[in-house]
Amino acid sequence: MENNPQTGGAAFALPGWPKKIGGVAVENPIWLAPLAGITFSSFRRFHRALGAGLVHTEMVSALGLIYKGRKTKELLYGFDDERPCALQLFGASAQDIANGAEIALTIRGFDALEVNMACPMPKVTKKGAGSKLMEFPDEAAAMMRALKSFGLPVWAKVRVMPRGSALSTADFCAKLFEAGADFVFVHGRTPAQRYEGTASREAVGEVASLFPGMIGGSGDCYAPEDFEDYLARGCAAVLAARGVLRDALLVPRTLKRLGAPVPEDFCSQTPEAQAGILLELGRNIYNTEGEPLALMIAKRMLGALFKGFAGAPKLRREGAMVRKWEDMEKLLTGRGLGESGAECGEAPNQEI
Ligand SMILES: Cc1cc2nc3c(=O)[nH]c(=O)nc-3n(C[C@H](O)[C@H](O)[C@H](O)COP(=O)(O)O)c2cc1C
Repeated sequence: MENNPQTGGAAFALPGWPKKIGGVAVENPIWLAPLAGITFSSFRRFHRALGAGLVHTEMVSALGLIYKGRKTKELLYGFDDERPCALQLFGASAQDIANGAEIALTIRGFDALEVNMACPMPKVTKKGAGSKLMEFPDEAAAMMRALKSFGLPVWAKVRVMPRGSALSTADFCAKLFEAGADFVFVHGRTPAQRYEGTASREAVGEVASLFPGMIGGSGDCYAPEDFEDYLARGCAAVLAARGVLRDALLVPRTLKRLGAPVPEDFCSQTPEAQAGILLELGRNIYNTEGEPLALMIAKRMLGALFKGFAGAPKLRREGAMVRKWEDMEKLLTGRGLGESGAECGEAPNQEI
């Protein structure tokens, strides 16, 4: 795939779509998840162009926006062709979330406002934000009410409640819906699980069956069948998260499986196609956000790309050491750094 993928429109629309989900018109239910440090502008735009029905910003600190953090505001930047795009905010109080949203909307338009009630990391939870909010349902509900005043769809992302909690996951979601939430994503891990163990699709499906059309699923989506399973369990949308770091073409391959008329060259899993798509993504990031981010994303994705063929471990080691985008280009185009290019070009399908 030599040219930048263009937003596919009809190629990525499922039969019978667009539809409105959570108040937003979308071509399909396969969406890019919020990923801190990853779903910045070029990444979002690229995955929209590869068919994601909607993209998310990474979680943005409401307090960071209020205290005029330049870096925080940069997380909001983006192009119109990435829309529909949901802004995800995190914060500890309804007042902070509302103030943060007000500032964000002076910078650019978004299609939905979402609150992160799912992040389990201590630097977020110790401030009372992220999954800590699952212990404070009244404040979480107040956030939904406060965001309603902006006239945009209001969403939340939560995890499943731990066993023995006063409220079940469904009770917590019901409180959010009563307060005006239009859509809630449920990640099938408890906060204590962080990213370990497996996400419970049963738990997500149970909530989805209670609130038809109102629940999105998240957790362990690595293959088209995973997305299909969440949809079959009643989820109205499913988030692609770590899966797109392992397979850059996961979203179009999933859409193809679901019946969208996606062209074949958006679906290939060959190392050459994956290297090609990673090159395109990296070049876009290099030209928009700069070399350090282009290298960071490429390095994160190399592990999955350089796997299962002779010379792969050496290429992975070399990739980890690359300091210049120019050298990453050589590695990805099989021109190699030193002798490695020959190995990259010659034996991509040879299992070891
Ligand atoms: C590096 C990384 C960053 C993440 N950042 C966010 C975030 O900013 N907001 C959020 O709600 N979830 C975040 N998540 C969680 C994902 O959106 C998703 O719910 C989770 O990874 C489960 O999906 P998966 O198992 O398919 O990866 C992050 C996950 C990872 C791995």
